[in-house]
Amino acid sequence: MDNKKTFDLETVYLDDENNALVIIDQTLIPIEVKYLHLTEQEDIWEAIYELRVRGAPAIGITAGYGAYLGVKASKAQDYESFYQEFKKVKDYLASSRPTAVNLFWALDKMDACVKKNKNRSIPEIIEALHQQSEEIKAEDVRTNKAIGEYGLSLVQPNTGLLTHCNAGSLATGKYGTATAPMYLGHERGYNFKVFADETRPLLQGARITTFELAQAGIDVTLIADNMASTVMKNGWVQAVFVGCDRVAANGDVANKIGTSGVAILAHEYGIPFYVCAPTSTIDMNCPTGADIEIEQRNPEEVYKKWYAKPMAPEEGVKFFNPAFDVSDAKYVTAIITEFGIARPPFDITLKQIMDKKAQENA
Ligand code: MRU
Repeated sequence: MDNKKTFDLETVYLDDENNALVIIDQTLIPIEVKYLHLTEQEDIWEAIYELRVRGAPAIGITAGYGAYLGVKASKAQDYESFYQEFKKVKDYLASSRPTAVNLFWALDKMDACVKKNKNRSIPEIIEALHQQSEEIKAEDVRTNKAIGEYGLSLVQPNTGLLTHCNAGSLATGKYGTATAPMYLGHERGYNFKVFADETRPLLQGARITTFELAQAGIDVTLIADNMASTVMKNGWVQAVFVGCDRVAANGDVANKIGTSGVAILAHEYGIPFYVCAPTSTIDMNCPTGADIEIEQRNPEEVYKKWYAKPMAPEEGVKFFNPAFDVSDAKYVTAIITEFGIARPPFDITLKQIMDKKAQENA
């Protein structure tokens, strides 16, 4: 059992002394574990856009550190001009990807921090931003631990689990969301058998989830996305755990493209479909899944990016490459948060979870 080996990898951290944001370049995994030291805003933006750092919580953490670094050397003499500088950095980072709400959640937290410290000196505001960015990461790690406990309470030892994309340690500050129950179960001898969907077209499941879980010593089997039905029909899957990029107030869930198909299959086969969602991913201002902006990405990812040669004629063919889809709330068995487990009707239970959070943070 060696969860430690996986947890030793730092998805994203701040090297304050060198004014750098440090990330593992996830486009290189599993071939290479390479840390990138990013000091320029353009490089931080590019790292998010190109999925060098990815996964909703990790994007949020990156944005927090990025916003701090973007104003750390500010020469502003007064609050108003400092805030204008901050706002420019914030808006720029916010334009990197549209779907994961954690990006906007983290930037709003940083914004609130600037405003809260309005009456302090500029160096003091910058230090407050530093503390706030570290807190965003620390909160994520605590959150995932709690999600792991709640998630584990829903499953039995010696069972099969299926996951889609990578909602793992590398998608978060640590532990992951969908993988948190797997790692915790592993520590406690649950002996899970995990099926990882490869996750076309960017292969986060094949490249990252299998890498993480195998390194931790967890029994993991890679399947192509179109094999999920077969492993479910064979009775090899007792629960599905996935992460998410945004949960709407009615319980509709946006996650990596292909997730909604898994949700429908799980429903058909009577397998619980659990969504692991830090409350930072719940967007109560978003009424339904139809209100979530779905990122459209470069079509080359579908037929060219991972192949030595194009796998489709480049002339006369249209391509469609949405990065996410929405699983309708009716297919979701439960949404597991750090404040407890929400079950249908989600419009009521999600509100209860958010109220509980507000009370505990009051
Ligand atoms: O495009 P990606 O790789 O950033 O998409 C990631 C996912 O869809 C994850 O499942 C989600 O962000 C949850 S990560 C804990």
